[in-house]
Amino acid sequence: MRLTYTSDVWYKNAVVYCLDVETFKDGDGDGVGDFRGLTQQIDYLSRLGVTCLWLMPFFPTPNRDDGYDITDFYTVDPRLGTLGDFVEFMRTAHDRGMRVIADLVVNHTSDQHPWFVEARSSRDSPLRDWYVWSDTPEPDDPSQIVFPDKEDSVWEYDEGSGQYYLHSFYRHQPDLNVGNPEVRDEIARILGFWMELGLSGFRVDAVPFLIENVEPRLAEPHEFLADLRAFLTRRKGGSVLLGEVNVPYEDLLPYFGEGLGDQLTMCFDFIGMQNAWLAMARADATPLARALRERPKPPQDCQWAMFLRNHDELTLDKLTEEEQQEIFEAFGPREDMQIYGRGLRRRLPTMLGGDLRRIKMAYSLLFSLPGTPVIFYGEEIGMGENLDAEGRMAVRIPMQWSETGGFTQGEPVREVPEGSFAPDRVNVADQKRDPDSLLRWFQLLIERYRESPELAWGDCTVLDSGHRSVLAHRCDADGATVVVVHNLCDTAVDVSLALEGLAGCHLTDLLVDGTLRVSGDDTVEVPLGPHGSRWFRASAPDVPPEDASVKSR
Ligand code: BGC
Repeated sequence: MRLTYTSDVWYKNAVVYCLDVETFKDGDGDGVGDFRGLTQQIDYLSRLGVTCLWLMPFFPTPNRDDGYDITDFYTVDPRLGTLGDFVEFMRTAHDRGMRVIADLVVNHTSDQHPWFVEARSSRDSPLRDWYVWSDTPEPDDPSQIVFPDKEDSVWEYDEGSGQYYLHSFYRHQPDLNVGNPEVRDEIARILGFWMELGLSGFRVDAVPFLIENVEPRLAEPHEFLADLRAFLTRRKGGSVLLGEVNVPYEDLLPYFGEGLGDQLTMCFDFIGMQNAWLAMARADATPLARALRERPKPPQDCQWAMFLRNHDELTLDKLTEEEQQEIFEAFGPREDMQIYGRGLRRRLPTMLGGDLRRIKMAYSLLFSLPGTPVIFYGEEIGMGENLDAEGRMAVRIPMQWSETGGFTQGEPVREVPEGSFAPDRVNVADQKRDPDSLLRWFQLLIERYRESPELAWGDCTVLDSGHRSVLAHRCDADGATVVVVHNLCDTAVDVSLALEGLAGCHLTDLLVDGTLRVSGDDTVEVPLGPHGSRWFRASAPDVPPEDASVKSR
């Protein structure tokens, strides 16, 4: 696929922005965010450069897992608005050229979902097989317990009907049984419903659990993903499934559909994320460089989704215990900053000690790594966390619009942080007026990233920078090249890079003014400040560098 067709594969260099309607903006003053409030802020998101919104679950819920426990897949939680408000929001987002995807949480329902209420009412219930039951469950494997602070088994005994039901997550989230064709049909109907209302796809929650924990076991678990993808494509070409698949690289390719790319369109790069944190903790780029080199190439038309921080715990589960400890020591030494023994419940800026230079470098890295960047609301202004909130809720705080908070005119549904990350210190309104703010940096990064699709989906080569603290890589596509260099340590360093095939070319800095020249023997010296980051576009010796800073398509 040539870069000319970027709009056909729009997700390959999208800017995905994840938000929770409940905590983004309250439009009616009841203290809870809603679709009307979100709609008012669409222009902010569009000016930031966001091209795709990912909405966390907005469906009716008893809210015992922040909406990931659903009681009705076909409407909007009344606290967040009505279906009418949803459609108005969609229309506004589309008018500003933004696509919208939503969380698809169908591994389980809430135990209050009418399907489960009916299923547990009797062993003869027509919906009994919509869930997974057992008289004699297998003993638990402790490594399979996702929330070890709250659960010690994935089976719960149901007194009324005298059998155990499976719950991969909390006990109030019984697993749906996709081994049952009726359940698979119903899931397709859910997709179809929201697609008809304008969605461009879904972020699929907990994918490995969804296809594996079923009864009877599916002969070809991946066939179900392929069916979903085929259904989606029949309904609307170009729509995406963005999968939460936290498995080692060697097990991941089947989720894209091996060579076919006919299952998930994108998968989050959990391994790259964890190694990026290890690299930052050590001020040594080696772990990240290794992950990028080892990462399998997704099939054509598929893409990696890159992130540094998401709405959950910052999981470090694929690192060794020693590596986890290194990261804890560097970025979350206190016990109340850690969670489940394998992760952190802090946002990025607090982990990096509020050091703006370092924070800017981290996000420059995110936007330049090969893949599609996914950011969590508030990252663009450097919001912190509220450690007084329970568990993962620490990072799911109200968006900070102004000095006084600006999230609601009423009593906010959740507390904001105090101290140096409180709204009077960190907010959108102030940063809009400050040319050196993180918000302005995000706007610049996004502008340059969108102008340089080579970054997201060109051929990426990690270069030898000669310095452990420096990650250097180049991205080539259609004869165009972008070279990117990041310094993970707090002292300045000059690196010498060998850039094959670019002898005599100009390297035009895309972030600040400046041009370098590659020597006749393909090498270039790049000075980097402490935590410095530089993005360069290469242009032939006879092209004036100023014409090379933007490559129009
Ligand atoms: C989501 C979590 C949620 C869990 C259960 C995850 O993968 O990201 O926030 O608690 O699924 O639905």
